[in-house]
Amino acid sequence: MSDLKAILHEAKAALSALKNMPDLEQTKARFLGKSGSLTEQLKGLGKLSPEAKKSAGAAINEIKGQVEALINDAKARILNTELEAKLAAEAIDVTLPGRTSGVGGLHPVTRSLERIEALFATMGFSVADGPEIETDFFNFTALNTPENHPARSMHDTFYIEGSKNLLRTHTSPVQIRHMLDHQPPIRIICPGRVYRCDHDATHSPMFHQLEGLWVDEGISLADLKGTLTQFLNAYFERDDMQIRFRPSFFPFVEPGVEVDMEWGRVKTAKGDKIKWLEIGGAGVLHPEVLKAGGIDPEKYSGFAFGMGLDRLAMLKYGVNDLRLFFENDMKFLNQFR
Ligand code: FA5
Repeated sequence: MSDLKAILHEAKAALSALKNMPDLEQTKARFLGKSGSLTEQLKGLGKLSPEAKKSAGAAINEIKGQVEALINDAKARILNTELEAKLAAEAIDVTLPGRTSGVGGLHPVTRSLERIEALFATMGFSVADGPEIETDFFNFTALNTPENHPARSMHDTFYIEGSKNLLRTHTSPVQIRHMLDHQPPIRIICPGRVYRCDHDATHSPMFHQLEGLWVDEGISLADLKGTLTQFLNAYFERDDMQIRFRPSFFPFVEPGVEVDMEWGRVKTAKGDKIKWLEIGGAGVLHPEVLKAGGIDPEKYSGFAFGMGLDRLAMLKYGVNDLRLFFENDMKFLNQFR
């Protein structure tokens, strides 16, 4: 009997100090497991006389019942403590302001491009595409710029070692690719990424250009001026936009021009003076370029232009540093959503 009391006492002390389930399992085994102290007591019953077995068995079962109740209490206490600790750790402060999931938006250059494509579509232009990794032939040679032509040095780019491929320096190669696949009338714009070894506030190593090409019978510089004026008026939501052509040289056009657009006016003693801003190059297609595109220059003529798309976006949104477009700064980009 005194053994049983000691076991009960020991069980009470051991179970009340327990803090986790693995320890509880071990303690349970210590008393009720295969070689647990109460199990050993039960095993000892075999040696007793039937009379003694009866009373000793009842006493052992009574203690066993008490130990089992203590184990159940300890288990409930441990589970409860664990649950409370878990709830405290996962507490949610419902008074905190909600975290909104960032809603994406179109990049300002993409936004400008979508607008530009829609405006040119109203003038009958469709959109054509070309590869960014271009061959030396389409980027230069077919555009009347043979190897060793000095104009190539104005387009320093990224060459792909061991091949005649390069990252295109302008969207003009799309002119040739398109002419080889289509006969006039051709009226397309070709927007896309181009690459040069440039890097400052108005020049980026990767930037976007917008090429335009119109080939048909009797197309002249006057059509170029009319098309660009109509486009710029619509793009900048004006109806009196002035544009100016300055003679310039590009091997693939003859005559070639630099296109300036009106960007504000300054008051002078002799009246208002227009401030001009360059937006791109243009001109009447050189006969060699039409020939390279498989088009008869005796029958057809055309014009082409190439504008800086990023520059058009900068002017539209009043951005003064081109590099801001490519830094992925959300504070900057969120302003255009
Ligand atoms: C050309 O690239 C010619 N292909 C344009 C052309 C097309 C002429 C068809 C005639 C007929 P240019 O190198 O000037 O031309 O570039 C055109 C425009 O691209 C520039 O006016 C400028 O707005 C933009 N641009 C040029 N380099 C950069 C640069 N590094 N970063 C941002 N914009 C640039």
